[in-house]
Amino acid sequence: MAGERVLVIDDSLVYRDLLVNHILQPNGYVPLIASDGETGFQMARQEQPDLIILDMQMPGMTGLQVLEALYRIRNEIPIIMMTLHGSEDVAVQAFRLGARDYIIKPFDVEEMLAAIDRALAEVRLRRERDALTQTLEAERRQLEAVLTNTQDGILLVGEDRADHIILINQAACQIFGLKRPSRGQALADVIPNEILLDAFRKARQSDERIAQVEIPLDDGRTFNVNVTPIPGVGRVAVMQDITYLKELDRMKSEFVSIVSHDLRSPLTSVKGFADLLPAAGPLNEQQTYFLEKIRTGIDMVTTMVGDLLDLGRIEAEARLDMGPCSVKEIVEKAAASHISQAELKQQTMRIRVSPGLPPVRGNLLRLSQALTNLIGNAVKYTPEKGVIAVTAALAAESGEVAIKVSDNGIGIPEEDLPHIFEKFYRVERPESEGVIGSGLGLSIVKTIIEKHGGRIWVESQVGRGTTFTVVLPAIA
Ligand SMILES: Nc1ncnc2c1ncn2[C@@H]1O[C@H](COP(=O)(O)OP(=O)(O)OP(=O)(O)O)[C@@H](O)[C@H]1O
Ligand SMILES: [Mg+2]
Repeated sequence: MAGERVLVIDDSLVYRDLLVNHILQPNGYVPLIASDGETGFQMARQEQPDLIILDMQMPGMTGLQVLEALYRIRNEIPIIMMTLHGSEDVAVQAFRLGARDYIIKPFDVEEMLAAIDRALAEVRLRRERDALTQTLEAERRQLEAVLTNTQDGILLVGEDRADHIILINQAACQIFGLKRPSRGQALADVIPNEILLDAFRKARQSDERIAQVEIPLDDGRTFNVNVTPIPGVGRVAVMQDITYLKELDRMKSEFVSIVSHDLRSPLTSVKGFADLLPAAGPLNEQQTYFLEKIRTGIDMVTTMVGDLLDLGRIEAEARLDMGPCSVKEIVEKAAASHISQAELKQQTMRIRVSPGLPPVRGNLLRLSQALTNLIGNAVKYTPEKGVIAVTAALAAESGEVAIKVSDNGIGIPEEDLPHIFEKFYRVERPESEGVIGSGLGLSIVKTIIEKHGGRIWVESQVGRGTTFTVVLPAIA
């Protein structure tokens, strides 16, 4: 690279001419010229060249004096000095005053060019580093502005045992009623919220696991909090105000529960009369067909109303009636209720419960209901001759029991995965056309599992199959 400005300070016209016309200009450098030390020093100050080539032997202000003067003003411009043979002691002094290189006169063009290149390489490197630092600093400020001003609460803690706070933004301070950001302090001292602390603890146990919790506050607001481990940095919590959604959900549940309750008795009567119809007189073929349609419709609505009432009940139950439950029993009970359906579709159902599994604390009826739903889905959404596997084993590191329900069925598209646990959510696909369901099964499952202090998640690939994993705390 050239274009750099090089200040030549030399009283000798011959050397100035050599440097300017034969070395600097032909190689693309921009020369600045001073023929005495005083002028050179002033030019160095005012022009801030990229490099100075300084003659040591000058009348008036000598090279050494120029160096001294520059040294005093904390000059950072690299300097190459030119000295005569035999004045090496001057060179030693010059180096002490910050000169970068020295060349003995007379020199040849190549020698000088190499020295210029060496000196400027350092300058270029420093410039690049400065530019990089500036860019990084600008990016850091941008990021800080985003983090500070975002509506979501953000809280970053280090990887250390005490969970020291590295960053906490205004929104997070506001959520927990903190007056000012408390950096460097232990999280538990600043925010003694057990649910939050527990989420941070969970996220520490594994490097990839995201811990998701809902934190209800005393003032009535509810926050959804995701704690994500960031290897090498710590763990970050992002908190969103979901008070409005919670309220909406509550209103929806209430509405649904009222409506479904009121639907029950008219439905029973429609069903009763439909059942009585053949007794009132012989039906022709078309009437029988229509009646069959009516019955299927009634069955669907009845199941849906039953599910809705069930879900409402489970959601409302503050505390389930719990005791030690055998995982083997839960799994076998649930599988048994779908075995005939699976046989009809010529599917293989494999069940493997690890021997010696500890019991889980739970409600046998509800846990079987959850598993029944999962196995029912596996059977429903897997074509004929498919394979369904139900396994239960101890998760070694956490001491929890993991139950997996896998199938090699139609799978779930990635964009639907975040929604399948929502009420009434069904995936619209040609492969599952005609499969009856109301989209309530998985929300029932999730509610049950969470009431047990467990977790559920899904992994799926379209056309390959689906695996639901349920993790429940075991009784040690
Ligand atoms: N094992 C599975 N394989 C493929 N898709 C599945 C599987 N399990 C669930 N799904 C998809 O998720 C949706 C929601 O499941 P969910 O059990 O909540 O409802 P449903 O089976 O449609 O109806 P319901 O269980 O209330 O009778 C289903 O409609 C289906 O699209
Ligand atoms: Mg279902």
